[in-house]
Amino acid sequence: MIARRGIDDLFLLLVSATLIVVALLAAAGLLSALVSGHGLPTHHFVGAVTAFRYFADPSLAWRVPVGPAWLYWSTTVVVVVGGTVLTVFVAKYLRSEQRRWDNDPTRVAGLADRHEVRLAAGARNLLARATILRPQLTRAAARDLGFFLGMSRRVECFASVEDSMVILGPPRSGKGYNLIIPFILDAPGAVVTTSTRPDNLAATMTARVAKGPVGVFDPQGLALGVSGTLRWSPVRGCGDPQVAMMRAGALCAGAAGGVKDANFWQQQTEVVVRCLLQAAAIDERSVVDVYSWSLSPDEAKEAVEILKTSRHATPQWGSALGTVVGLESRPRSNIWSVVSGVFAPLASPRVIEQLSPGSADEFDPASFLEECGTLYLLGTSSGAFATANFVSALIEDVVETARHLASASLGARLDPPLALILDEAANYPLPSLSSLMSEGGGSGITTVAVLQSLAQARDRWGNDQAQAIWDSATIKIILGGSSNASDLTDLTKLIGERDWPETTTTRQGGGERTISETTRQRAILGPSTIRLIRTGHALLMLRAAKPIMLTLRSWTQRRDAPTLKVHRREVEDMLRSGAKQHRSQRQDASGFSELSRSSRTTSSGEHP
Ligand SMILES: Nc1ncnc2c1ncn2[C@@H]1O[C@H](COP(=O)(O)OP(=O)(O)OP(=O)(O)O)[C@@H](O)[C@H]1O
Ligand SMILES: [Mg+2]
Repeated sequence: MIARRGIDDLFLLLVSATLIVVALLAAAGLLSALVSGHGLPTHHFVGAVTAFRYFADPSLAWRVPVGPAWLYWSTTVVVVVGGTVLTVFVAKYLRSEQRRWDNDPTRVAGLADRHEVRLAAGARNLLARATILRPQLTRAAARDLGFFLGMSRRVECFASVEDSMVILGPPRSGKGYNLIIPFILDAPGAVVTTSTRPDNLAATMTARVAKGPVGVFDPQGLALGVSGTLRWSPVRGCGDPQVAMMRAGALCAGAAGGVKDANFWQQQTEVVVRCLLQAAAIDERSVVDVYSWSLSPDEAKEAVEILKTSRHATPQWGSALGTVVGLESRPRSNIWSVVSGVFAPLASPRVIEQLSPGSADEFDPASFLEECGTLYLLGTSSGAFATANFVSALIEDVVETARHLASASLGARLDPPLALILDEAANYPLPSLSSLMSEGGGSGITTVAVLQSLAQARDRWGNDQAQAIWDSATIKIILGGSSNASDLTDLTKLIGERDWPETTTTRQGGGERTISETTRQRAILGPSTIRLIRTGHALLMLRAAKPIMLTLRSWTQRRDAPTLKVHRREVEDMLRSGAKQHRSQRQDASGFSELSRSSRTTSSGEHP
């Protein structure tokens, strides 16, 4: 079959080449006649081929004068050689264009065409909903109403501010470069963004300073040199039982994971933590007191006393804490070991300092939201002083405040909206993430959760919760490079199938060929094709629209990139010098530099 196709192709090539050569010979004859002043011959074009028999006088072949032989043949050489070179050049160009077209990921059959892209993700779609999306704006541009995602079929694609997004891409797949950093830069209102590294912060911090106040909450000291300005207490507002319960939920998320009867221990831990937080809030204690209560049930008796005697305490909370404190030693120490784990990061003086604001420098979520501030939250979920749960608790505080502000605003929406951009989201066990993804958009909270894989999400939130987060994302952006086979297979199913025409040629005994056409259903993008999506491209799954292949625009391609790069360098210098200063302080404190200096001088033999 393949050999037959090769013969067919060769035949086609020969016919085309012959036709081109004949056309060039004819063109040369016409040109020679024109140049020699005989006018254009109107018939007997066959003379172009038969002229070779009348080499000395080609006019005999054409049956009309076409100029002297020397002019005729020199014109023929020039036209045929020039024409052949030009034909080869054009053919090569067309072939490379064809290859580019074939490799263009946005043109895979079964994906949304230009019209469908425009309808699903185009700017016009956003502008039509301007009064709903931003009720307080009288004249809005597309970028006030949503986030630019990239181009597809020469259409600018946007997500609206009421969309919730999941970005799925393995490490180094360009999530930050192409999506997160531009989102932070372009967010029309306040931004709360998480990260385990200060890379997004370095590229965006200076630009965001122009829009409103900027704070860096970095209890672990991951961005020394720029952090330290923002302090927030987990005790804040915990006099209100609802706040205390919400805060305890965030602080304790995953605390009892992996143990037998995890739900029971988790529940008991949350009871203790919310009671400790309320006792501290109503007695105006700091997080240091909470830490010492968390160390042992005996220490916590003080908190029991506060809850039982204060008229501001929620009824029965003192008894609830007292019951746990008075349990038999085995269950009590089991519960307390989880409670101590929750507050373990407070053993670090730096963490304590960041969580102990004075009355003047305490972070106030309401004014932060109103002034369109930017909050960078840094923290990891592993390591001795992992503060991811404290970061989650702070996010919950801001989100709750945003919800309250929204309910008192026009259209029950926060305007300008809050962008919650959760890079490395699986590090932050936000209990309310799935509800934020499903209903935050309606209150003016745009949630973007960045995940490395669905398996990572399942590991963090459990199967059901991870599925709920995935399902409630109105926009799913998938980058290439994943090596998780089950994720890729799931995505292939989600992207769907299309009709795939197949031609079958069979040969009968007598040599006749029968060609039959059938239509099969095949995946639009198979698992390996999704894995091979190139850096700078992403697949966009948008509500009920057909999948859209996006060509992303990295922040380095923006018009303001030169300024942003200068600012990034400045912030990186600050980060470097902060880390250097911290290192030298630590060395001084431990006497390491003295020791190393003396050991160096001893080994070099300068001093005995
Ligand atoms: N559009 C692009 N143009 C040029 N380089 C790019 C582009 N996108 C990504 N890169 C390169 O890929 C690297 C990784 O990008 P980025 O930091 O955005 O990935 P990430 O998915 O956020 O990684 P991580 O999961 O480690 O945070 C960048 O340092 C950059 O060099
Ligand atoms: Mg990143």
